[in-house]
Amino acid sequence: MDTQKKVLITRKLPEDAEKALLARGYAVDINEKEKTLSKRQFISLITKKDYDAVLCLLTDKIDAEVFDAAPSVKIFSNYATGFDNIDVEEAKKRGVAIANAPAPMTPTAVAEHVFALLFSIGKRVIEADRFVRAGKYKGWVPLLFLGADFSDKTLGLVGAGRIGEKVANIGRAMGLKIIYTDVARNKNIEEKGAEYVENLEKLLPMADFVSLHVPLLPSTKHLMNEKTLRLMKPTAYLINTSRGPVIDEKALDRALEEKVIAGAGIDVFEFEPKVVRGLRKRNNVVLTPHIASASLVTRTQMAQIAAENIIEFLEGKPVTYLIK
Ligand code: GLV
Repeated sequence: MDTQKKVLITRKLPEDAEKALLARGYAVDINEKEKTLSKRQFISLITKKDYDAVLCLLTDKIDAEVFDAAPSVKIFSNYATGFDNIDVEEAKKRGVAIANAPAPMTPTAVAEHVFALLFSIGKRVIEADRFVRAGKYKGWVPLLFLGADFSDKTLGLVGAGRIGEKVANIGRAMGLKIIYTDVARNKNIEEKGAEYVENLEKLLPMADFVSLHVPLLPSTKHLMNEKTLRLMKPTAYLINTSRGPVIDEKALDRALEEKVIAGAGIDVFEFEPKVVRGLRKRNNVVLTPHIASASLVTRTQMAQIAAENIIEFLEGKPVTYLIK
């Protein structure tokens, strides 16, 4: 009988994952196609063999249909911190293990991207870059591309977990006042001066910059909507590096159209990879394609952790990043 464990990696990753799994003697298949898989393609891929484990992506939708189709797979290790692509309750019912990959460097990489977006939109970097490339720069102009001021402003964090905390640290180093709201208090940032605000409705009118750091849950879907966007200052900027559906994207598009807020920096989209058409046309939004954690070190650590989850599981050890 073939006892070699079979592992599938659903898309090309930093090679550390494959190396670690091969070193344990597992048979490793990698889907080399550089394309997001539909549900049908995903199921067809993971049922090619009786895989024991699948190292999957946040773009792979994993639910009852998948568990039914691939009963041999006993662990799905998600190459991401977030795991809203997986029906964890359904997995639990069937005894399928789910793990994630919150790499040590993820909060730093994401926090840096928050400020990349904030500076890009506030200082109008992308707009100005397009202007110069189009040959429109004809000489210095006093009122050309006036942008945001950052000193003595208030940064409002919606969610202050590992990532929110890093954003707070960078913000503080820049001299921003930090306020935050969350379901749980974060004493670390409070000790360094961050002020806790009891709810979103109170926080939004106080902040010059709002950055979202909540997981996608039924309670956080459309947290930013027609109504809450209107609670922000008209001079404020909204940054989202969490999950797209945390913002009602059509409402954001309208808010930017009507100048309800000054601008936005968006890395994640409600209907990813689709982007609401209006957003793609606006100058008061900067868009990046879900790359906040895309630093080489972070993505490599994620590969190592996602593989290690599988190794721990297949060796009968406690899985460090098991979703319970
Ligand atoms: C990326 O979005 C992640 O959840 O790691």
